[in-house]
Amino acid sequence: MKTIAVLSRKGGAGKTTLAVSLGIAAQQAGLRAVVADIDPLRSAAVVLGSRADAASILIETTGRKLKAVRDACSRSGCDLLILDTPPSPLNEVIKAIEISDFCLAVARPTALDLAAIEETIQLIGKHRRDGLVVLNQCPPARNGIEAGVTRRALQTLEFSRVPVAQIKIRSRLSYQQAASERLGVTEFAPQSEAALDLQRLLLEAGERIARGPARREDRSFLGRSAVSGGLAMDEPWGATAPGLVVAASAASFWEFA
Ligand SMILES: Nc1ncnc2c1ncn2[C@@H]1O[C@H](COP(=O)(O)OP(=O)(O)OP(=O)(O)O)[C@@H](O)[C@H]1O
Ligand SMILES: [Mg+2]
Repeated sequence: MKTIAVLSRKGGAGKTTLAVSLGIAAQQAGLRAVVADIDPLRSAAVVLGSRADAASILIETTGRKLKAVRDACSRSGCDLLILDTPPSPLNEVIKAIEISDFCLAVARPTALDLAAIEETIQLIGKHRRDGLVVLNQCPPARNGIEAGVTRRALQTLEFSRVPVAQIKIRSRLSYQQAASERLGVTEFAPQSEAALDLQRLLLEAGERIARGPARREDRSFLGRSAVSGGLAMDEPWGATAPGLVVAASAASFWEFA
C-alpha cells in the first residue's frame, strides 16, 4: 500500500477537491483506495460521507490516530491511502507527512499561495519524503501556451526542492459541481478535460512513486513538458484516451503498492 498526503498550509488551495477526486479516480481504476479525512472541518466527509460506498472509501480520523489507520488499511488489503489534511495546526500536518510515502503540495498560481507553499516544501524535504507540487486552479492554457500567472508560478518554483507536477489542474466549474453532487470529477463529468487532468495527476503521482525521487537534472523536474521542454505545455498525454490513462494509473500503482 502507498500513502499520499495532500498538503497546503493555505486554506482553499484545493486539498479536499483533489484528495476526494483522486480517491474516486483510483477506485475507478481498480485500486482499493481510501480517503482519510483528518481535517476537523470534515470537508472530505461532507462529499464522501453520504455516498452508498462511504464505508469503503472514507475514514474520519485525526493525525494522532493516523499511524494505526494506515496499518489497519494496509492489513485489510488497501492499495492507496490518501490523506486530506487541514491547513493547521502544524503538528497534524507533520503527522500526515510522517506516515506518508509521497506528498502532494497543492498551490494556486498566486503570490500568496506560492509564498505559503514554501513552508510545506521545506517540511516535505525535512522529513525526506518524495512528492510533487501541484498547481491547482490554473487558467486553461491557450494554444498550448500557459497563462502569465502559471508561467510566473513555474518560475517562482524553479528552485523548489520538490518537483512541480507536469500536469496543471485548471480552474473548472466541474470540480465544484462534482463536490455538490457528492461525486468525484471523474464520475460527474467522465469525458471532461477536468476528469482527464485528474486521471493524469493520479498517473503522474503513481509513476513518480514507482520511479522514486526525481533528480533535478530530469527534464520533468520543473513541470516542463517532456516534448517541448519549455513553458509551452504540450501535454505528453494529449492524444491518450481517458480509459488508457486510468489503466496506466492502475498498473503503476499495482506494480509498486
Ligand atoms: N481546480 C478547481 N477549479 C475550480 N474550483 C476549484 C478547484 N479546486 C478547488 N476548487 C474550489 O475551491 C474551493 C476550495 O477548495 P478545497 O475545499 O478543496 O480547498 P482546501 O485546500 O481543501 O481548503 P481547506 O484548507 O479549507 O481545507 C472549493 O469551493 C472548491 O470547489
Ligand atoms: Mg480541505
